[in-house]
Amino acid sequence: MKFSFANPTAIHFGQGQISAIATAIPTDAKVLVVYGGGSIKKNGVYDQVVTSLANHQWEEFSGVEPNPTKETLDKAVAIVKERGIDFLLAVGGGSVIDGTKYIAAAAHYDGDGWDIMTGSHQVQSAVKLGAILTLPATGSESNSGAVVTRLATQDKLAFLSPHVYPQFAVLDPDSMKTLPERQLKNGLVDAWVHICEQYLTLPTGAMVQDGYAEALLKNLLILGADYDNNDDDAWRANLMWSANQALNGLIGTGVPQDWATHMIGHEITALYGVDHARSLAIVQPSLLRNQIDYKKAKLEQMGRNVFGIDGDDVATRTIDAIEAFYQSLGVATQLQDYGTTKENAIDAVVGQLQGHGFTKLGENQSIDLDVTRAILEKAVA
Ligand code: NZQ
Ligand code: ZN
Repeated sequence: MKFSFANPTAIHFGQGQISAIATAIPTDAKVLVVYGGGSIKKNGVYDQVVTSLANHQWEEFSGVEPNPTKETLDKAVAIVKERGIDFLLAVGGGSVIDGTKYIAAAAHYDGDGWDIMTGSHQVQSAVKLGAILTLPATGSESNSGAVVTRLATQDKLAFLSPHVYPQFAVLDPDSMKTLPERQLKNGLVDAWVHICEQYLTLPTGAMVQDGYAEALLKNLLILGADYDNNDDDAWRANLMWSANQALNGLIGTGVPQDWATHMIGHEITALYGVDHARSLAIVQPSLLRNQIDYKKAKLEQMGRNVFGIDGDDVATRTIDAIEAFYQSLGVATQLQDYGTTKENAIDAVVGQLQGHGFTKLGENQSIDLDVTRAILEKAVA
């Protein structure tokens, strides 16, 4: 274990905290409020933003899609450059926050913003940003990552930069009240898989990271089992805080990380439009079964400490329990309705991974294209 850790995002958590933006954003800033398809106008979040920005100079950019596209975001980049915007406020889910991170970085770059996604441009600086989260799932509100899609080529790529950590994140669980069931369940699954990506690798004896990861996994299991009570302040608050902690960097410091499920899942979303979380539920059980030899010790630890499984075949039964957790939420664990033959669907995913150079995935680089193909054989119905 050797690491440096800093998470610079200030968190304003709790009911009524949207008003904190009045002082969290400098009053002399020129602000662009960035949001999605309009959910924030139906749950009072937009109105609270307007009230809280009464002493600020601000304008807005709407229409950021789920799985945000370069094509849309570049329009905001042009506005930021033209108008001298120097603070971005993202209001929405992971897509809006990721999109805002791209806008922030691309606005400080003279070339095509896509260069940031391919890695041919390393981000040197970015417009300052803050986030108001309305959908707990991705952790984007206080991490340094963003995922953006180029529609024209169906490429979905991620970038990481310390320059795009939000300055602050507002987490008001009341903003979740209008979330459709599908998105609440997506949040549970995405946060769950984020913890797995940083925990289900190989044992390193990192007691803090393992112990906290297990606590968060247990929270998500309890919230899933108690799903019928999701219209409850404590339920919402616990999901919002758990999903944030799952991917704010802490549990991943100093330990091996996997992320193969995410890389394969991103291609499935780009090709077939499957929600991000649902792409993970499709890939992960099959991937874990394929990689069970490498992951056996951590699967057994998770089985014992999270699910309370003992006896024989703990690793196998733990994977079964993970799959059953998704299914208990009504989340499918195989890809269906992909509009072509199974063989074509698998070829397409493998072809995209190859094109992006993602040919050795996982904590020990053991998932090459042949292994991916074997994983997809089970993951595609
Ligand atoms: O656009 P609006 O109208 O706001 O509607 C959104 C959208 O249709 C809606 N929604 C959000 N908050 C709502 C609400 N509807 C009603 N009430 C509310 N309070 O939900 C829909 C989905 O939103 P989206 O932001 O796309 O969902 P999510 O937060 O799951 O974000 C998914 C994106 O994040 C990326 C994914 O790849 C995907 O592109 N990820 C980002 C990560 C990161 N930055 O660290 C890590 C993740 O693994 C993930 O890859
Ligand atoms: Zn995710």
